[in-house]
Amino acid sequence: MDPSFIRNFCIIAHIDHGKSTLADRLLELTGTIDSRQMTAQIMDQMDLERERGITIKGKAVRMDYEHSDGKNYQLNLIDTPGHADFSYEVSRALASCEGAILIVDASQGIQAQTLANAYLAAANDLTLIPVLNKIDLPLAEPDRVLGEMRQIFGFTPEEVILASAKEGTGVSEILHAIITRLECPKGDQNSPLRALIFDSTYDSYKGVLAYVRIVDGEVKTNDKLLMMSTHTNVEALEVGIFRPRTESNGELKTGEVGYIATGLKNVHDCRVGDTITLSQKPAETPLAGYTPHKAMVYVGLYPAEGESYENLRDSLDKLRLNDAALSYEPESSAALGPGFRLSLLGVLHLEIVQERLEREYGLKLIATAPSVSYQVVLKGGRETFVENPADLPNISEIEEIREPWIEMNVLIPSRFIGPVMELVTDRRGTYKRMEYLASTNESYDQTGSVPEARVLLEYDLPFSEMLVDFYDRLKTVTRGFASMDYRFIGQYSAPLVKLEILLSGTPVDALGFIIHRDKAYERGRALVEQLRSLIPRQLFEVAIQASIGSRIIARETVRALRKDVLAKCYGGDVTRKRKLLQKQAEGKKRLKRVGQVEVPQEAFLALLKISSK
Ligand code: GTP
Repeated sequence: MDPSFIRNFCIIAHIDHGKSTLADRLLELTGTIDSRQMTAQIMDQMDLERERGITIKGKAVRMDYEHSDGKNYQLNLIDTPGHADFSYEVSRALASCEGAILIVDASQGIQAQTLANAYLAAANDLTLIPVLNKIDLPLAEPDRVLGEMRQIFGFTPEEVILASAKEGTGVSEILHAIITRLECPKGDQNSPLRALIFDSTYDSYKGVLAYVRIVDGEVKTNDKLLMMSTHTNVEALEVGIFRPRTESNGELKTGEVGYIATGLKNVHDCRVGDTITLSQKPAETPLAGYTPHKAMVYVGLYPAEGESYENLRDSLDKLRLNDAALSYEPESSAALGPGFRLSLLGVLHLEIVQERLEREYGLKLIATAPSVSYQVVLKGGRETFVENPADLPNISEIEEIREPWIEMNVLIPSRFIGPVMELVTDRRGTYKRMEYLASTNESYDQTGSVPEARVLLEYDLPFSEMLVDFYDRLKTVTRGFASMDYRFIGQYSAPLVKLEILLSGTPVDALGFIIHRDKAYERGRALVEQLRSLIPRQLFEVAIQASIGSRIIARETVRALRKDVLAKCYGGDVTRKRKLLQKQAEGKKRLKRVGQVEVPQEAFLALLKISSK
């Protein structure tokens, strides 16, 4: 198709502001999907996505649209994951578009991900079409939110389209704006092929499907192709488009969006951000901006009692086929036996991987508390990265430890400034900036008083402090009103120590963690207390101790007890006894025997539950 009739765009929004609902309306209005086939939020296909209402993997869909000028246009909607964990994927998806619809919820106003995604879009030179969604809600405050959109992004109220994705209001204006406000793709049809990979997925018949935007040239089925960063050669087994399911059509031309089936067996060979070109006639330079994934969170995963290591390995292998950001290597814990250390993009990514392993593969797992990557400078100058606290070299060999820091923005109603400041300071954060968001003069509520202002706060924070229930605390202290987003800024030095936990005198490597010296005592005490309540009484006394180096800083004891499950079963028949014994055996499956002591799975996550404040 002539590129001047193509528009490539995406929708960016804070979570729940109505991205998928608007996508559904666009699909309906362009007749891409008729209403009978329509299941709500068709773009969120994964079960987990539907349940949690979040978009995890980006997807794409082509729509044909006859505009009021009587011409037919090809519209490619690229769906982006909105969460900070996946910001690299978001930025690649954005790079495949000329424009973005920026949705803001009229009842909630601008939120942290609105900001983060809009900045990413601006960095990619996209034209933004601002949309104020959910104007049908009784709680909508369009004037006030228009004021915020003007202050933060400089949009005039005339530019902003008022919409209700739910009821369909404003959707045809949005389509009109896509045609008239967005540029068509530029690119050279006669140059060698350059296709940007913005996503990929694994198909058991066709191998890895690369989701691509053709920047220059064209690609046809059976073309011999080259991935420019990995130097992998593949053949285009099938070339096609998304409607939204895959539909083979033999070729993709400059400016178009679709997929190439590569036959590759592993998504890791087909990296998001890489450029595909022709093997015979390669492009000279790849498209800009390719960076490998940056893992931020590390966690040990071990089979629970009664679960096999091989099962876990096979499931991880399968999961990895579809998740290019997931990597892992075998590790062995003295306490938990053989397992794996996973590298992940963030906390949400971790939750998703763990949930998929348990749900889709039916595994029973024991996970250690998540860790960040510490840059350790040894005496003599050698540097190493430590992702598992158990691998931290002896303190006498260490010159310096540097931990990752993030820059974070938080949006809240102004009455919560105090509690949020307190929370962030307690987590060693440093305050950077505060901005009050404007409300327009007209935005009075029914009583005639000016509604409460909202505030944007910016902080720098050690990432490790965010891993431990930060988000939950933030939600609690702001009664659910806060939204936040972050990005990695660098590794900085801190006085960190390793805190070890000993059970009956034996150090349990999987329970150890690295922590700031000033917090070690308090956290050690709390953890030991928490463990005492989690570890069931056993046939002998169990001492729980916390230590730093050789110094014990806290101790609790679980008293001995003989647990007789049959005690309440006087007389009775033998089948009842058997049932009780069986029940006890099942209850034990999620226990792990550490030395002599049986430790339940929750104990390994106790660290997450004892957050200081
Ligand atoms: P993520 O995929 O999690 O980022 O969310 P999303 O932005 O795709 O939001 P989604 O479309 O799932 O909408 C979130 C909720 O808002 C759903 O319950 C929708 O039904 C509702 N919603 C979306 N648009 C409107 C609207 O215009 N009016 C009203 N009243 N509700 C809406």
